[in-house]
Amino acid sequence: MHIAFRVFHKDDLALYRSWFDDAELARRISYPTDAWLTYVTSTEASCCWFAEASAKGVIAALQVDREGERGYLDIAIRPDLRGQRLGIAVLSAFIAGPGNQYQVLEGAIEPDNAASLVCVCRCDFRILPGLNDDGLIRVERNRDASSGCDSVEAWSGPQEDGQPSPID
Ligand SMILES: CC(C)(COP(=O)(O)OP(=O)(O)OC[C@H]1O[C@@H](n2cnc3c(N)ncnc32)[C@H](O)[C@@H]1OP(=O)(O)O)[C@@H](O)C(=O)NCCC(=O)NCCS
Repeated sequence: MHIAFRVFHKDDLALYRSWFDDAELARRISYPTDAWLTYVTSTEASCCWFAEASAKGVIAALQVDREGERGYLDIAIRPDLRGQRLGIAVLSAFIAGPGNQYQVLEGAIEPDNAASLVCVCRCDFRILPGLNDDGLIRVERNRDASSGCDSVEAWSGPQEDGQPSPID
């Protein structure tokens, strides 16, 4: 499947907002307010893309907030396509495409978001120790170094203390 990325435009807002009728997406990703639109379309600090696959149209949205060489990534698969193994395909295409401009891509994932953790680990992100201040698992991928987080199958959810299970 060929996946193409185009920069998010204000005319995309109504479509993107309609995805937030989905409760799972709404609890994982911040709602795209008017202030969000200004932030991602009018500042150097952030950019958002729609991913498109010819037969399916828009299949995902990705946002990266830049801080120096580091980009903080969020990804959302169109809700009716979730769970169809598009996440890994979209993320790997993004890394090879627009995401390649960032030296380091970092994500913050809720410990119960197994699909997201599987996706990032399949795409050579590594899980950083501990949780961030919001209780999220930090993952990062350096453009120059494949971390080979290939034993994600061993990940079995958070431990009782909320820390991510170790991946050897
Ligand atoms: C997270 C998200 C991007 C993943 O994309 P997706 O296309 O739905 O995920 P996939 O279908 O590709 O599944 C990825 C892998 O996770 C696995 N997986 C899914 N749910 C799982 C679970 N509860 N436990 C273990 N593995 C799980 C899948 O089996 C698949 O692995 P496989 O290819 O070996 O079978 C997507 O579900 C989404 O947009 N979620 C809402 C927004 C969100 O959470 N964004 C991330 C914020 S950090």
